[in-house]
Amino acid sequence: MQKVDLIIHSATQLCIVPGADGPQRGLGLGDLGIVENGAVAVADRVIVATGETADIRSDYSARTMIDAYGRCVIPGFVDPHTHIPWYGDRAGEFESRLAGATYMEIMAEGGGIMSTVRDTRRARLDELVEDNLPRLERMLRYGTTSAEAKTGYGLNTATELKLLDSIMALNARQAIELSPTFLPAHAVPQEYEGRTEAYVDLVIQDMLPAAAEWVAEYGVPIFCDVFCEEGVFDLDQTRRILQTAASLGFRLKVHADEFVGLGGTRLAVQLGAVSADHLVETPQEDIEALGQGSTVAVGLPGTPFGLAHEKYTPAKAILRAGGALALATDCNPGTSWCESMQMVIALACRYMGLTQAQALVAATLNAAHAIGRGREIGSLENGKQADILILDTVDYRQLGYRYGTNLVNKVIKRGQIIE
Ligand code: NIG
Ligand code: FE
Repeated sequence: MQKVDLIIHSATQLCIVPGADGPQRGLGLGDLGIVENGAVAVADRVIVATGETADIRSDYSARTMIDAYGRCVIPGFVDPHTHIPWYGDRAGEFESRLAGATYMEIMAEGGGIMSTVRDTRRARLDELVEDNLPRLERMLRYGTTSAEAKTGYGLNTATELKLLDSIMALNARQAIELSPTFLPAHAVPQEYEGRTEAYVDLVIQDMLPAAAEWVAEYGVPIFCDVFCEEGVFDLDQTRRILQTAASLGFRLKVHADEFVGLGGTRLAVQLGAVSADHLVETPQEDIEALGQGSTVAVGLPGTPFGLAHEKYTPAKAILRAGGALALATDCNPGTSWCESMQMVIALACRYMGLTQAQALVAATLNAAHAIGRGREIGSLENGKQADILILDTVDYRQLGYRYGTNLVNKVIKRGQIIE
């Protein structure tokens, strides 16, 4: 009998979500690896065994036992695209959008991202941390155990580095592990209005090298992302920024095809980006490219929903092409202030045509691969970090079906029960 720290047993459904070597691709998406009356054993923050309750209980004993009878046990959600941290809110702009103004119109008039940039530049590091902490605590209670966190509301070197510092401070203050992404090319700041090329030069010559020094000091892996969009950064500017970033050791992500398809997804695949995100207006050629490459397509259904747009990520076409699909919130104060991966699953089932099983894999295993952490998190396989959710439902299919209430009964992060 082997002693471990924690056993969760008698789960009506234990969803292992197999796939340590890669995301579940194409029409193979949706393999949950369900064990009925399942159990999971955890030692030293890591999953050491899963199986039927009788087998696990005959092989292992633990100080802490959790009876999950009548409940469903799944991997913690991974949210691979958020714009946390930011400062302030834009409730007034939402009101203007309800009255008919479009997102890009508000941005062109100096609102939108620029409005949050003004607030974020003014905020001190400690204010930024205090403002974002409750947001992450709510996400954790809704089952997100790891997330990506982007800069992008600084748009000058000092504030972009302050945002990176705040991500590290937030990492130390709460349980969700944050993977940092540097996004200085999120918008052209007002002081560079009409001089996008000069701003791109600043990003390449000043901001990326400064961030690379920051990375060397902290020793954390980091991504670089670009908002490749009509009226923001074009395909050539995106390519130059990402190539420089890659040469400095950044892994890559791209905001592609949110409003206009410019070829950002194809570029992401060509550059071996870890993910290409948004993908609403994605041309068929780019969808085919996803099937050939390793880049994970990240659908963000909270964004068209938040903008009251009709069009969503063409998930079925991406899967038919053999692509790997993940889901994320895009949590940000402009287009999608959504902190719940459960809500994202509900939207993906309705507007992207996913089954609950496909959405669940896209929100866990494939989402982990979308931040390059698929070998450590995202499933309940042996050797992975013990990031586990116990749901207040007997059947995983209640996810997506029900929305607006929290179905999470318990969150376990690295083997610790979060109270
Ligand atoms: O992913 N598209 C660019 N960035 C965000 C919106 C950011 C904002 O409006 O503050 C997005 O939708
Ligand atoms: Fe985004």
